Amino acid sequence: MPEYITLTIDGARIRVIEGTSVLDAALDHGICIPHLCHMRGVPDIGVCRLCLVEVVENGRSKITTSCTLGAKEGMVIRAHTEKILKLRRNVAELLVAEAPNSRAIQDIAVRCGVTEVRYPFHHANCVLCGRCVRVCSEVWQSKVLGFVGRGKDRHVALPFNERPEYCKRCWSCIDVCPMTITPCDGPMKEGEEYLCGKCASQLTMIENSPDSCVWCRLGEGFQCSRWRP
Ligand code: SF4
Ligand code: SF4
Ligand code: FES
Repeated sequence: MPEYITLTIDGARIRVIEGTSVLDAALDHGICIPHLCHMRGVPDIGVCRLCLVEVVENGRSKITTSCTLGAKEGMVIRAHTEKILKLRRNVAELLVAEAPNSRAIQDIAVRCGVTEVRYPFHHANCVLCGRCVRVCSEVWQSKVLGFVGRGKDRHVALPFNERPEYCKRCWSCIDVCPMTITPCDGPMKEGEEYLCGKCASQLTMIENSPDSCVWCRLGEGFQCSRWRP
C-alpha cells in the first residue's frame, strides 16, 4: 500500500504518496512552478534549474530543485518567495539569451516575469535539457540518443552520427524538445533576437493568481506537465 504524507507548499496542505516529487505534488494541486527539463513519469535530472524552491527545516531554509526533491511528511516548501522569484527570473533570462528561437523558452520567461534580457543572445539549437535523451531511453527503451562531450562542447548525438536500425522512429524526441516550436513571429535572425513577451492577456491571469496554475497555455505545444492527462 502506498504511504500518504502531508506537506505544505506555499501555505497549502497537500496530501500525496510519499516520494512524489515536490514539483509533481505542486502541479497536481494547481500550484504552478515553472519547469523545463521535467517530464512526468520520467526520472528527473534537475538541469534547467527553473523549478527552484525553498525547503524550510528547523527555522532554516535551503534552495533546491523541486523536481528532484521527494515529498516527505511535514515538509514545508516555499515556491514563490521574492528570493526564489528573482533566482527563477534569472534562470529564465539566461535560457532566453541562450535560445531565443524557442517559443517554449520565450513563454516560460514571460511566465517567470522576465522583462528584459541583460545577457548576450546566442543562437543555440539545444539547451541540453535532456528531454529527448530521457524519452528515448526511459519511455521507448531505445537508448539511441546520448550526451557527448563536456562543457561547451556537450551536445546530444546519435551513435556515430547515424540513426541506427534500433531507432523506433517514434519521433518522441522531437515532440518533447522545447526547441521545436518557434516564436509567434517566426525564427529570429542572428543579431536580431529579442524577448517576445506578447502573451499580454495571459500575463493578466498570472498577475491575478501568481501562485496558482491558471492553465495559461504559455508554451503551447510544449506541454507543461499540468496539461497532460
Ligand atoms: S525516434 Fe528514435 S531516437 Fe527518437 S525517441 Fe524514438 S527511438 Fe529514440
Ligand atoms: S535536443 Fe531538445 S530535448 Fe534534446 S537536450 Fe536539446 S533542447 Fe533538450
Ligand atoms: S524542471 Fe527541475 S530542474 Fe528542470
